[in-house]
Amino acid sequence: MTEEKHLADVPDWGYLLGEFNSAYRFRSAGGSKIIRSHMRTVRERLSRCVAGKPEVRFSEPKSLPVCAHLGRAIDNGERDSMSSMVRAIEKVKDSLVWQYGYEKLPQHLTNRYAFADILSPNGPVICDDLTLGLVLFAPKTTYPAHAHKGITESYICLSGATSENDAGVYVPGSMIINVPEHKHAITTSDREPALLAYAWTGATDDLAHQTMVFSRRQKGA
Ligand SMILES: [Fe+2]
Repeated sequence: MTEEKHLADVPDWGYLLGEFNSAYRFRSAGGSKIIRSHMRTVRERLSRCVAGKPEVRFSEPKSLPVCAHLGRAIDNGERDSMSSMVRAIEKVKDSLVWQYGYEKLPQHLTNRYAFADILSPNGPVICDDLTLGLVLFAPKTTYPAHAHKGITESYICLSGATSENDAGVYVPGSMIINVPEHKHAITTSDREPALLAYAWTGATDDLAHQTMVFSRRQKGA
């Protein structure tokens, strides 16, 4: 059953959105025009959404097996450069709805991966042109190559170490950007979980009905 509220009724969610806003306002774009433009789009859409006093629709909180790693991911993240966002996540963690989301999730990921939306066309905070959320990976996980149709995706690393397409190592405070149709695979380090925040910008329909396109059929999928 879904309980309807507004953002002002759940201040911890407002503080968490404030942390997203700060991250997309004050963290460096590293000189990249594409990243700077994406960051501006995220914070403009977020600011407009919050100014409109959005509805918040909470579903029943849901945990998945990878959530056994969330405590450790938060502990590590609270000691690193994204600590204020990680502390804000800690305050809302009991009301998160963790999900796999995509119909053809490779079977080996069922214990190693989940995501939780924070703001999207489908909630919990309702916003029709932006999606914000969290993704959690167990240690030693590979999320296979996939792409997003019509969506520009960014990740901010909050805890742990992550690489994408074997092209670099991203630690707390780093931002990764994937433009529409860009194929990307994510791996995490051997011993520690990884927690990342994500932002998706795109058309409402693409955000609300996004399906994952894996580049190869996965065994067991
Ligand atoms: Fe992705």
